[in-house]
Amino acid sequence: MKKISVLFVCLGNICRSPVAEGVFREKVKAANLLDDVTFDSAGTAAWHTGNPPDSRMIAAALERGYDISDLRARQVKADDLTTFDYILAMDDENLADLEDMIRDQPPANLSLFLDHSIKVTEREVPDPYFGGKDGFFHVIDLVENAADGLMREIESQLNRPQQEETAIIKKA
Ligand code: 4NP
Repeated sequence: MKKISVLFVCLGNICRSPVAEGVFREKVKAANLLDDVTFDSAGTAAWHTGNPPDSRMIAAALERGYDISDLRARQVKADDLTTFDYILAMDDENLADLEDMIRDQPPANLSLFLDHSIKVTEREVPDPYFGGKDGFFHVIDLVENAADGLMREIESQLNRPQQEETAIIKKA
């Protein structure tokens, strides 16, 4: 059976997208879906390639029960845009940068991550990099909610395999 693959994208891949991956990873584990769902994260910029997440985000995530210290940053590559089922941008700038990359390629399954939220009304995950500690926890709040919504979508696709492709295409 086809696996569902998810890529979280922000600018540097050291704050928002790695914590999104780390939170989502725990949801996938809790749902016992590690064989069915794969995930990764990447940045539109290459500045932090090979680096662990920002130490402030590692600390905030740990306080909330997520260990993301094993993750390493990488830059988004053109291949990603045609191989992942979900490509989830943290903000409008990330989305625009990804759209620029796919101009001459088949359409990717691109959306804002928070569009998958159940309760959150915000559209973008704000960049916490230049702000204080609260910003990092706010990111985790937003990401937890959107990860719950995304898990619901994915679980319903996995329970109804005959509608899998249609459901995925609809999200584009
Ligand atoms: P991220 O945050 O996109 O959530 O990883 C940032 C990380 C680094 C920088 C900006 C944002 N930076 O300017 O180096």
